[in-house]
Amino acid sequence: MNLTNQTFARSLLAATVVLAAHSGFDAVAGNLKPLPENVTFTEHVAPILFQNCTRCHRPGEAAPFALQNFQDAQKRGKQIAEVTAKKFMPPWHAEHGDVEFSNERRLTDDQIALLGAWHKQGMKEGDQAKLPTPPKFTEGWQIGKPDLIVKMPEPFEVAAEGKDIYWNFVLPLNLTEGKWVRALEFRPTARGVVHHSLYYLDTAGDARKFDERDPMPGYNGMNRSNRQFESLGGWAVGGEPMLLPAELAYRFPTNSDLVLQTHFHPNGKVDHETSTVGIYFADKAPTRKFMTLQLPPLFGRLSGMDIPAGATNYAVKDSFTMPIDVEAFSVTPHAHYLARTFQLTATLPDGKQLTILKISNWDFNWQEDCAFKNRLKLPKGTRLDSIITYDNSAENPNNPTSPPKRVKWGPMSTDEMAAITLSVIPARDEELDGLRTAKRTHNIDLFIDRALEDTKKREQVELMKATFDKNANGKIDPEERPGLRAFLEASGKLKGIEGGF
Ligand code: HEC
Repeated sequence: MNLTNQTFARSLLAATVVLAAHSGFDAVAGNLKPLPENVTFTEHVAPILFQNCTRCHRPGEAAPFALQNFQDAQKRGKQIAEVTAKKFMPPWHAEHGDVEFSNERRLTDDQIALLGAWHKQGMKEGDQAKLPTPPKFTEGWQIGKPDLIVKMPEPFEVAAEGKDIYWNFVLPLNLTEGKWVRALEFRPTARGVVHHSLYYLDTAGDARKFDERDPMPGYNGMNRSNRQFESLGGWAVGGEPMLLPAELAYRFPTNSDLVLQTHFHPNGKVDHETSTVGIYFADKAPTRKFMTLQLPPLFGRLSGMDIPAGATNYAVKDSFTMPIDVEAFSVTPHAHYLARTFQLTATLPDGKQLTILKISNWDFNWQEDCAFKNRLKLPKGTRLDSIITYDNSAENPNNPTSPPKRVKWGPMSTDEMAAITLSVIPARDEELDGLRTAKRTHNIDLFIDRALEDTKKREQVELMKATFDKNANGKIDPEERPGLRAFLEASGKLKGIEGGF
């Protein structure tokens, strides 16, 4: 699983010489190592490809062609030089901030220069004896043999044309005893059309009931956010399975069903999906608890996103102050096509600022989980600030709509979402409830902010203000919020809002 530590160490070095990469593949900046006079496949190129490319560029994996030997590389030497110089390959979008990622896919500038020079010098094979041993991958499963393999009971047909499809599939686990789970690995059969799949655990049998309403496999996932289920992360194009840190695990009770919510993007020919999921059990119960914090919460549903057609720099922001000491261990950005940049910063109680995540060239096709190399301590009082920006102009080459139209929050890939999800372990288990409460309060406050803006429900808004805006300043101030929050909680209007993320 962890092929990446070496790459990672090399990329640290590269952080100081990033500028070279922008000036094209034959640039040689001052900080780069001098290039060998005779760059060859066996000595210089193969080690780079084996370490950084072959895991996807081999039969049965995500990439459209193999890069496993000299002939493969020679056929595409020019393209390899170009895509690596542009940092299009290997795909990885998080820049270097103050956190190091253990699963980063990135070449050093020296490696990029070598690939460029190899092409320029005519792509020589070199001495066979110098060829490193090609990497061995576990056939099918990336993190070894799963303890339990579950499969969709029947294939789902994806039409050649038409809108994106969100569909839920129920995979009964038939566990005879409760289990602790450290990882799930998703294997799609229709790689060309499966965009992503989110995993949920249903312990109440609800998903089975939804499935039984019609004879089709699974059930429509549109407008259904699966909030009543426990979220277990997911897989997206370019994603790799992630093992939870050793002391953590998900609880799978005996009556659990796994629910996959899969997003299909028709690509011109009919295809059939029969997903398989490998489940990896933990040997023992976890010793620590963890939780995810999402900024903004609920993938931006409460952020009032409303991106005008033509807007080039529409920002969605959120802030959250940590009520307890935690250690963060991973961060995952999510948005659709229009997003351009992501940033998550932490301002520690002593004023020190840390950049946890920074992306300046978001690509919808690569939804990457960034695992921290070292735990990041975020003491009580740390303020997290997220900002995600969107370009809804015709100049954005990723804009799926031409001419651009107004875009709001929603589940279709032509709608938008906003989220940076941080996974955290509380320093003291018993304080976890404090974090849950703060998260819930934050969600309810966003709900209140949106409700106050709702021009269609003017009467209700006036009533809310009359009752709770004691100083009649037109706003619900922090000291006026507890009363309104309690009122809303009692009203039952917050279903799905308090708990979710
Ligand atoms: C995580 C998986 C992954 C890794 C790692 C990866 N690739 Fe790719 N590569 C892909 C996929 C998927 C595509 C096709 C989709 C696309 O173009 O985005 C692709 C496309 C390409 C293309 C064609 C680009 C084009 O414009 O059509 C080249 C060339 C390439 N990769 C080279 C490399 C090289 C060289 C490396 C290593 C330095 C590498 N890739 C690492 C997944 C990967």
